[in-house]
This record gives sequence, structure tokens and C-alpha cells, in this order.
Amino acid sequence: MQFPVEAFASIETPFYYYDVELLKATLDAVKREAAKYDGFHVHYAVKANYNPRLLEIVNAAGIGADCVSGGEVRAAISAGIPAGKVVFAGVGKTDKEIAYALDSGIFCFNVESVPEIEAIERLAAERGAVAQVAVRVNPNVGAHTHANITTGLAENKFGVNYEQLDGVIDVIESMPHIKLIGLHFHIGSQLLVMDDFIALCCRINELQELLHETRGMVLPHINVGGGLGVRYDAPDKYPIPDFDLYFATYANNLKLYPGQQLHFELGRSIVAQCGALITRATYIKNGTCKQFVVVDAGMNDLIRPALYDAYHRIENLVSCEPDGVYDVVGPVCESSDVFCKDRRIPATKRGDILAIRTAGAYGEAMAFGYNCRELPKAVLSTDLNM
Ligand code: LLP
Repeated sequence: MQFPVEAFASIETPFYYYDVELLKATLDAVKREAAKYDGFHVHYAVKANYNPRLLEIVNAAGIGADCVSGGEVRAAISAGIPAGKVVFAGVGKTDKEIAYALDSGIFCFNVESVPEIEAIERLAAERGAVAQVAVRVNPNVGAHTHANITTGLAENKFGVNYEQLDGVIDVIESMPHIKLIGLHFHIGSQLLVMDDFIALCCRINELQELLHETRGMVLPHINVGGGLGVRYDAPDKYPIPDFDLYFATYANNLKLYPGQQLHFELGRSIVAQCGALITRATYIKNGTCKQFVVVDAGMNDLIRPALYDAYHRIENLVSCEPDGVYDVVGPVCESSDVFCKDRRIPATKRGDILAIRTAGAYGEAMAFGYNCRELPKAVLSTDLNM
């Protein structure tokens, strides 16, 4: 990714910079690779980045949306994504959110509990509608990623466990305003090892066999969630994730019944590499045993390092000096407001512009206003005259 450093000089920092060309190339790749297989459908996980201008680009690529709140359903639909391509997950959907999604005519609710199913039944009945649902099953598959972003273990709050599934299906079948159309899974995020997805495929195969044998049931839709990881360590070497390998892994390991449709909910892999948080060094500060680069972006702009100890490459876009060793820290009044510790980057001085890379996913989307800080702005490459 090339940064228009001269154009950055006149823009107030911090801001998120998005390379539209890379986003479009990534979308092209995901569509091309999915289209190699019959019945593969990609839904963009809006939670990764719901910037409306990016959502419009996602919509132009013709893929659907995966949403986890009424607000995300609204954002997806406002960007032009057809309601018929929207899936809606989440353990805590409120009546208001369910009603909005029903009125919008979304494709499917990924349901996570019996009380939620009862709420959907009641609200659909009031409207004389029939809601399509997929049961989110907790596959109890461990994913090799940070503990805070695994979702498919028995201890996680998501989905219904295997032992409960039969009872949940009975409940759904007794409800006239709910139609069971599929099963939904998601094991975690930032997965670079295909073995985790293969383990998920094996669990789904077992479950499908069981449902077929015991209930004669074959559901038309299987949704395997998202989770494909990106290379935070080498964004320029791997700007576009290996969608070819990812889809082939499912095609080779998941046993679909004739006509079954397979859905994916990819977030990070679509938007992470096209975004960077651009910030300026406000001060260089010497501690007793450390050198700090204090930048004007903080954990409120990008919380991943503070929350998950996540690694993001940091580049000084203007210095060609030999490396120094720094902690790059923000201005927020929290000791955890640290982007990296003891990192070698070119010697940095006040005013230098830095890029915190691979920040397009769960960066701007997770920004908040602590310390009365303004939310970060977004600049698209297409905004600049280059
Ligand atoms: N589907 C479901 C049901 C999910 O829970 C998630 C992410 C996705 C799809 C999209 O996963 P992706 O393809 O982006 O891995 N804030 C964390 C990540 C949280 C992911 C939550 N669920 C981070 O910054 O790493």
C-alpha cells in the first residue's frame, strides 16, 4: 500500500486512511474465489467496519451483510445492501431490533436461544409474517486465536449447545411464524490455520448426519461464520488474504447435501489491510529506561493493542533515520494506552507522520470518545488528488 504522504501533510491527525483500490481488489478476490463453487454466498460482517462510504463500496461488489444489531441492519440497508442478503445474529436482540429487521424483510435471523425464538414468533405473528431462522450452534471447537475472540467453545455465550439442539428444533417446529432454514456456526476470529476450519467442517458433517438420520432433516442453508485472519506482521507482502485456500478448505471438507447453500460472514479479511490509522508524533519523551513516542492517536481511536495485546505494524512515513527503540503511546489517561513496546522504528521526531497498519477492521468501528476525544475521521484514497 502506497501512502500519499505529501497529501497527509495538510490533514489534521489522527485519521483513518483507506486505500479504495486495495479494498476493491480484495472484494474482487473474495467474489472471484467464492464464485468457483456453486451455492457459496459471502456476507460482509458489518461489525468490522461500518463506515458508510466503505459499506457502499462493499455493496457495489454485490455481496450481502452479516449484522449483529438493529443499527448494523440499518447501516447495511442504507448503504444499498438488499435486505434479502442480510443475516442478523447476536445473543441479545431486543424486541425493537427484531421488529425492525422483520419490517425490513431480512433474509435470516441467526437465533441463539429459546426465549429469543419466542420473541421472534410473537413479533412475527403480530405482523402476520413468517421469520426465517438459522439456529446458531456452538460447535465446541477451539480456535487458535486470542481468548477474547474465540466464540465457539462451550464456555462462550454464543449459540446453543449440541445437547440442546434437538429441543430447540422442536420449539421452532411448533411455531407457525418461524421457518427453520439453516444452521449457523462461528468459531472465532483472526484464524490463519486452516485446521480450525477443518475441525468445524467435521463437526458440521457429524451434526448434519445426525439430523438426517434422526429427523430426516436436511436444511437448505449452512452458515459457517467468518474468522479468516490477516497478516498483521506483513501487510505489504500479504495485502489480500488467501481466499482461494479458505474456500477450498470448506469445499474439500464440508459435506453439503444436494442444493444446500453455504454462507460465509467475513469481516476482517475484507477490510483490515486497506486501512491504516495515521497519526503524528506530538512529543518524544525520555523515561528512565524507555524512549516514548507520544502520538496524537490513542486507545480510543484503535483499542486492539490495549484490549487484545494485538500487534500492529507501525511505520514512520517521513523518517529515513536509523532505527530507534520506542514505546509508541497515546495521550489517553490510561497506562494501557500503548500501541507497542520496545519497537524498532526509524528515529522519530516531533511532527513525524506515522501509520499504524492493518487497522481497517475493528479500528474505526471500535473507536470511542473517552477523555472527550473526538472520534477519528476517515479519509479515502479517492478523496485525495494524487
Ligand atoms: N460472524 C460472527 C457470528 C462473528 O461473531 C464475527 C466476529 C464474524 C462473523 C466476523 O469475523 P471476522 O471474519 O471478522 O473474523 N474486535 C475483535 C474481533 C471480534 C470478532 C467478533 N465476531 C478484534 O479486533 O480482533
